[in-house]
Amino acid sequence: MLTGKSILLIVGGGIAAFKTLELVRLLRAQGASVTPVLTEGGAQFVTPLSLAALAGETVHRELFDLTAEAEMGHIELSRAADLVVVAPATADLMGRMVGGLADDLATTLLLATDKRVLIAPAMNVRMWEHPATRRNANALREDGILFVGPTEGDMACGEYGPGRMAEPAEIRAAIAAALGGGPLQGRHVLVTSGPTHEPVDPVRYIANRSSGTQGAAIAAALRDLGARVTLVTGPASVPAPTGVDVVPVETARQMLAAVEAAEPADAAVFAAAVADWHVRAASEQKIKKGAGGLPELALAENPDILATVSQRATGRPRLVVGFAAETESVVETATAKRARKGCDWLLANDVSPETGIMGGTENRVVLITETGAEDWPRMSKQAVADRLARRIAEALG
Ligand code: C5P
Repeated sequence: MLTGKSILLIVGGGIAAFKTLELVRLLRAQGASVTPVLTEGGAQFVTPLSLAALAGETVHRELFDLTAEAEMGHIELSRAADLVVVAPATADLMGRMVGGLADDLATTLLLATDKRVLIAPAMNVRMWEHPATRRNANALREDGILFVGPTEGDMACGEYGPGRMAEPAEIRAAIAAALGGGPLQGRHVLVTSGPTHEPVDPVRYIANRSSGTQGAAIAAALRDLGARVTLVTGPASVPAPTGVDVVPVETARQMLAAVEAAEPADAAVFAAAVADWHVRAASEQKIKKGAGGLPELALAENPDILATVSQRATGRPRLVVGFAAETESVVETATAKRARKGCDWLLANDVSPETGIMGGTENRVVLITETGAEDWPRMSKQAVADRLARRIAEALG
C-alpha cells in the first residue's frame, strides 16, 4: 500500500519515541522507505543505532553536519520525502513549529519542506490541555499540518487522559491516508455504532449491551483503506478511533438526524444497536417513587435508520450494509430482514449469551447478500472489520 513512498520521520524527545521503532517496521513492511531524523531529546529515548538498523538508513541528527551537507543538504533532505512525519511531536516541538524556529535539524527541515507534514503529538495530559498547547495546535491546523491523535489512555507518567501518542498502526494509516493511498481514497463512508440511550427522565434511560467495539473497528478499517469516515456513535464503552469524523449522539432520533446531516455517502454501515422504542413522553423532572404508584412508561416506535436510508428513492448510498443481532434461526431471520429493510448486505450474528459476542472481542458472522449466505469463521471483531472493509472497497470499485 505504501510501495515506493518515502517518509522523513522526525523522532522527538518523549517516552513515546520507543513506539516509532514499531512504526518504522510497519512502514517498511508496506514498502515505504524511512529516513529518520533524531532530535537531541529523541536520542534520550531511542538510540540512533536501533533507529538506523530498523530503517536501514543513516540517522540524521546534526544541522551542521559537513559530510551530510556534502551528500545531501538539509533543504534537499526536507524535500526528497513524499511526507514529513513527526512522532512523537512534543509540546516543545509544536511550539517551535508555530514560531517558525529553525534552531536544530528537525525544525529547519520542518520550515524548509514543501511537503505535507503529519504530526503525532504525545505529552502529559496537563501539557496537552494547557491553553498554550491548545493555541499551538490550532495554529498548526491552520497552517495545514495534519494530526493523528493524541488518544486517551494511561500514560507513562502515571496519569490518565488525552496526550498518549497514537498507536503505530494508526499513524501508519494516517500516513497512507495523507499520501492518497488506499482503495477507498476519495470515498465517504458512514458508520453507525454503539447503543442508543432513550431517556425515561433526566437521570434514567433505556439502553442495551452494545459496546461499540465492532462499529469502531469497522470505522478504523475503512479509514485504513483511505476512506473519509463519519462515525455516528451512541454512548459506546470503547473509544472512537482517531482519524475519523466522530458525531456523538444519544437517542435513535438523534442518530437518524446525524446520519442525514452527514450524507451523502458512497456507502453506509449500520452497526449500531439502535433501540426499537423510546419513552413517548420522557419526563422533564426525575420521576419520584411513592404516592402515585408505579409509573407507566408508554413507548413509541423509533425511526428505523437502516430501513429509512435503504429505501430512500434519491441520494441513497450505493452500498448499504446492516447488522442483525439474532438469537435463533440466524440465517433465515436475517435473510428475511435483508429483504424487509431493503439493504444490500446484512451481517448476521448469533448473539445468544453463550456465544459471548455482544460486548466481547470476537464475532462470528454470516454475510447475507443478494446471492445468498456466506459463513465467515469465528474471528476477532477487528478481523471482521478488515474483511468487511476490503469487500466494501471491492464493491465500490
Ligand atoms: O431490526 P433490527 O434492530 O434487528 O435490525 C438491525 C439492523 O438495523 C442494524 O443494522 C441496526 O443498526 C439497524 N437499525 C437501525 N435503526 C433502528 C433499528 C435497527 O438502523 N431503529
